[in-house]
Amino acid sequence: MHTERVRLPALLDKLMSADQAAALIEDGMTVGMSGFTRAGEAKAVPQALARRARQTPLKISLMTGASLGNDLDKQLTEAGVLARRMPFQVDGTLRRAINAGEVMFIDQHLSETVEQLRNHQLKRPDIAVIEAVAITEQGHLVPTTSVGNSASFAIFAERVIVEINLAHAANLEGLHDVYIPSYRPTRTPIPLTRVDDRIGVPAIPIDPAKIVAIVVSQQPDSPSTVLPPDAETQAIADHLIDFFKGEVAAGRMGNDLGPLQAGIGSIANAVMCGLLASPFENLTMYSEVLQDSTFDLLDAGKLRFASGSSITLSPRRNADVFGHLERYKDRLVLRPQEISNHPEVVRRLGIIGINTALEFDLYGNVNSTHVGGTRMMNGIGGSGDFARNAHLAIFVTKSIAKDGAISSVVPMVSHVDHTEHDVDILVTEQGLADLRGLAPRERARAIIDHCVHPSYRGALDDYFQRACARGGHTPHLLREALQWHIDLEETGSMIGGLLNQARSA
Ligand code: COA
Repeated sequence: MHTERVRLPALLDKLMSADQAAALIEDGMTVGMSGFTRAGEAKAVPQALARRARQTPLKISLMTGASLGNDLDKQLTEAGVLARRMPFQVDGTLRRAINAGEVMFIDQHLSETVEQLRNHQLKRPDIAVIEAVAITEQGHLVPTTSVGNSASFAIFAERVIVEINLAHAANLEGLHDVYIPSYRPTRTPIPLTRVDDRIGVPAIPIDPAKIVAIVVSQQPDSPSTVLPPDAETQAIADHLIDFFKGEVAAGRMGNDLGPLQAGIGSIANAVMCGLLASPFENLTMYSEVLQDSTFDLLDAGKLRFASGSSITLSPRRNADVFGHLERYKDRLVLRPQEISNHPEVVRRLGIIGINTALEFDLYGNVNSTHVGGTRMMNGIGGSGDFARNAHLAIFVTKSIAKDGAISSVVPMVSHVDHTEHDVDILVTEQGLADLRGLAPRERARAIIDHCVHPSYRGALDDYFQRACARGGHTPHLLREALQWHIDLEETGSMIGGLLNQARSA
């Protein structure tokens, strides 16, 4: 039974139920679980843990690759299991618990978690729970639809629980490339110079004696929730593609553009979809999450190769891609997130990083995480890993949110994730601001002229003019700088009522 999926016979006596395996997780433990952008998370064991905690309360510190699917963060939050959570999440229930101060959330660059574990700056997991398609003859773990932080969690944990998920096709084996950097101070360069280089091994190498439980499950990943492109996201894509055409014409880029990274969400997906109808050829991706658009571009022959850390697809693409994986396998690789997001590699390859902002300000500082400066949305994810080191750091957003009550371009961001020094290009459906080589006052002009929604343009220009009259390298009126956010909190709309005035004018 299951000998094709558990190929080291000595491990077969570790097969047990999810409830038995979850019982190995004790109150106060640090637990490292697989899972990245709703792909490849351990499912049965955390569900069993939530069931148990509803009867017998317990708390753990949970680290994963990134977000979990199958409502796991919701279930674990509702069961009161999470004392601490890192490094990323996208769940509404957990978000509320974080913002209520009930769960301590450590919002971290995704490439950084395992580096801090390696150096004992973070407490290493007592136990790792890793979803796998198979355990090899050597007792090594073949990940499923994500690699994320699974390899280092399994290597650093004292004990490992493996979930063999039969819902994932066995032919995922061979897709992964597991490379673990060596220790400082004798670390050598990561030997990756092309997006399609394979530098590691196809399975997570651990001592099989650490495997204390094997649970067989059969639950699919959750589908992605990206929305199809709309008029605004299409306009953002069009502006960006015009910009790329200009870069090619100016000789600053080849017609293959260079390796692309696209962040999570509908806007980034729409931008990638926009490349389908573009003149660019032989594109490559060196990204984190591979979404529907990656496979649309592969099918269209536009994309030559895609490197990521996970695959998260909509119901539209899921059965087709995983049902015909052989069609894609020689053009895909999944790597640990430490490698997909590694600053050294991002800088070496010259990545074009396209990520989404919640808001940005007059001078190009970007807030990706905190609504109103205080309430966590999802987390910084990999956006900082890429933006700081990218060949081109691009941030996109719609110019207004919540039916115009919010301007996504503000005098001063209420929280800074990416400083003006990290940001090259800003795009909204209104247009594109190229900030390269510009001083702060020039940046403000480009942003006001190209990115702001017409309803807010006059007010932002007025702020800028009055700030300039007061002087400074980066002019501001500190008493007013956050007034738009204060108005939003107090009246439900930025610059209270201005939009209504503009509409009725
Ligand atoms: N203030 C408050 N809320 C805002 C806002 C602003 N300035 N701009 C957008 N929003 C709201 C939207 O109204 C929407 O709310 P809803 O969920 O209630 O409808 C929500 O934020 C998401 O915005 P949307 O325009 O649908 O974009 P998205 O789904 O692409 O998500 C981010 C945008 C910024 C939240 C998301 O990209 C993110 O978490 N980024 C940080 C992590 C990251 O960049 N990772 C990339 C590496 S993979």
